[in-house]
Amino acid sequence: MNLLAEELNDLIQPANLHVFDMLSEVGKNLFFPKGILTQGAEAKEKAHRFNATIGMATEKGRTMYLPSVMSMIRGLEPEETLAYAPSYGIMPLRKAWKDSILEKNPSLSGKKISLPVVTNALTHGLSVVSDMWVNPGDVITLPDKLWGNYNMVFAVRRGARIVTYGLFENGRGFNLKGFENCLKTEAAKKDKLIVLFNFPNNPTGYTVTNGEADRIVEILLNIAEKGKNILALTDDAYFGLFYEKEALQESIFSRMTGRHPRLFAIKLDGATKENYVWGLRVGFITYGGYFGGNHDQVYNALERKTAGAVRGSISNVSHLSQSIVLKSLLAPTYKDEKEEKLRIMTERAQEVKRVLANDKYREAWEVYPFNSGYFMCLKLNKVDAETLRVHLLDRYGIGLISLGKHDLRIAFSCVEKEDLQELFDTILKGVKDLDH
Ligand SMILES: Cc1ncc(COP(=O)(O)O)c(C=O)c1O
Repeated sequence: MNLLAEELNDLIQPANLHVFDMLSEVGKNLFFPKGILTQGAEAKEKAHRFNATIGMATEKGRTMYLPSVMSMIRGLEPEETLAYAPSYGIMPLRKAWKDSILEKNPSLSGKKISLPVVTNALTHGLSVVSDMWVNPGDVITLPDKLWGNYNMVFAVRRGARIVTYGLFENGRGFNLKGFENCLKTEAAKKDKLIVLFNFPNNPTGYTVTNGEADRIVEILLNIAEKGKNILALTDDAYFGLFYEKEALQESIFSRMTGRHPRLFAIKLDGATKENYVWGLRVGFITYGGYFGGNHDQVYNALERKTAGAVRGSISNVSHLSQSIVLKSLLAPTYKDEKEEKLRIMTERAQEVKRVLANDKYREAWEVYPFNSGYFMCLKLNKVDAETLRVHLLDRYGIGLISLGKHDLRIAFSCVEKEDLQELFDTILKGVKDLDH
């Protein structure tokens, strides 16, 4: 093992052995390399005569650039866009995102969380977490309605075993019993459980209520209390898009952080969906654990391992993207801009509910609970989901996603409010075409 990895492990182990145990073999071996990066950073501070350290090019003391490139980037300097960003992400963005996490999750007040490490959006963040915390054969529990890419990230790439529980109890709220049974069954076989929460959920658009969140955390604490280690991941991709008061308005990460030495929470979030910048690829990994008095030292060690994983995969995230996201976060109009888009999305969600309240749809489908996010799902009663999807596409030019035999996912985030009535009426027409 590299000496630097050993040094980091020596900081984590005494603060919380359970968290150290939860690291994968890769995670235990990870470190942030010295070499070119740290030598370059030292030179940046001290090399006042010539700084010939790093693989970039300069001209008259400034970052070299082609005018045809910079002419397309207004309001940002070459140093903020074309130069490499650190593997950790740029510090002002990490700090601004942490501030925004604390602001959006008031119950984190008084708790210690790490400084976020920047990733190439959530998918890469999940992959980094998977490398660092998931060993082949580890069990990861997920609801049966889930984002399909988890299979690639955890099972295909890392050899984890995905175990699912039904998301809903009788088509209503979160299936607490099913969740608890699933965890207890796996806890009987394993000392380490990985639990992934994704609220607002893709594909259903469901976020748990306050009461459900409390109960979920209670279940986790009970299992931790019995001597099992729980790594709890929150995929908060659609965070903030809550349309009903009943939906938990914070990340469940807040409720798990600092609660038990055997419960370690990792928050994955990003600008992608929250700030409508899908192609910029800016996401974050943030840690929330129980470390007695040693939080800062342990978080720093974990951040270094995480940045090492970024360095070894994509090296660093687009500086241009990070600068754009940062400037937007700090813009005086940012909050108003966010509210305006939330209003549009809320109105669409409310319109979907209004339209679907009509009895005429009752025979064709049931509506899965939804209160947040980009999507909602129908459970088809009469026709096969894939057959209907293809029919709607070919006959009516409507594109939806079929999931399994019965479920149809509708991204109302992509449909104007005025068009939602027509959309659902045409889906009903499609069902009737097929069901004679
Ligand atoms: C639940 C969930 N997590 C993560 C992602 C990926 O996000 P990103 O584009 O930031 O990688 C998606 C995208 O569809 C998603 O639905």
